[in-house]
Amino acid sequence: MNVLIVYGTTEGQTRKVAEHVAKDVSDRGHAVEVLDAAESDANVDLNDFQAVVLAGSVHQEQHQKAVKNFATAHSEQLDSCPSAFISVSLSAALEETRPEAQRYVDQFVELTGWQPRMTLLLGGAVRFTEYDYFQEQVVKFIVMKRGLAAEDGGDREFTDWSALDAFVDEFLERAAS
Ligand SMILES: Cc1cc2nc3c(=O)[nH]c(=O)nc-3n(C[C@H](O)[C@H](O)[C@H](O)COP(=O)(O)O)c2cc1C
Repeated sequence: MNVLIVYGTTEGQTRKVAEHVAKDVSDRGHAVEVLDAAESDANVDLNDFQAVVLAGSVHQEQHQKAVKNFATAHSEQLDSCPSAFISVSLSAALEETRPEAQRYVDQFVELTGWQPRMTLLLGGAVRFTEYDYFQEQVVKFIVMKRGLAAEDGGDREFTDWSALDAFVDEFLERAAS
């Protein structure tokens, strides 16, 4: 299969996720193309691909505009082929806050009109060493609210890579059948 992965990222974690998915896909013998939604040509021809994975992260309860635009522009074609959405957020990292992470996805689906066949809520990362003052204040609030504070207050990754691998395996199996 030819698999397209389109991602949106603000601080880089979802790029890392997209690259991980790309490696999984190619390790399983499929051809893969990775596009940054912010740089990609909206006219990319989805007919060239048999399966599409879209990944974006959440900032102030919203996925990246470029990811929303891509999904809206291609919703019909995405609906007609095996497609999956990976939503990266801090809310996805904890069982108690997963309903919130699901709400971000529900809003995304409603807004874009695309109904992904599979969806993964995936924990993201905090990078206090890279934030500006505003980002730091917002993330401190989210982290404290969710009880996710690192003991040293430093960078921390919450991404469950094994869950991501299992998701990709299932997606590829379903897409191929
Ligand atoms: C300014 C800011 C706002 C954020 N807002 C939310 C939010 O509303 N809900 C949430 O669950 N996570 C939120 N996060 C956490 C991000 O989703 C998380 O850091 C993710 O790993 C970012 O992915 P990226 O590096 O691909 O952009 C926020 C992070 C930042 C820096």
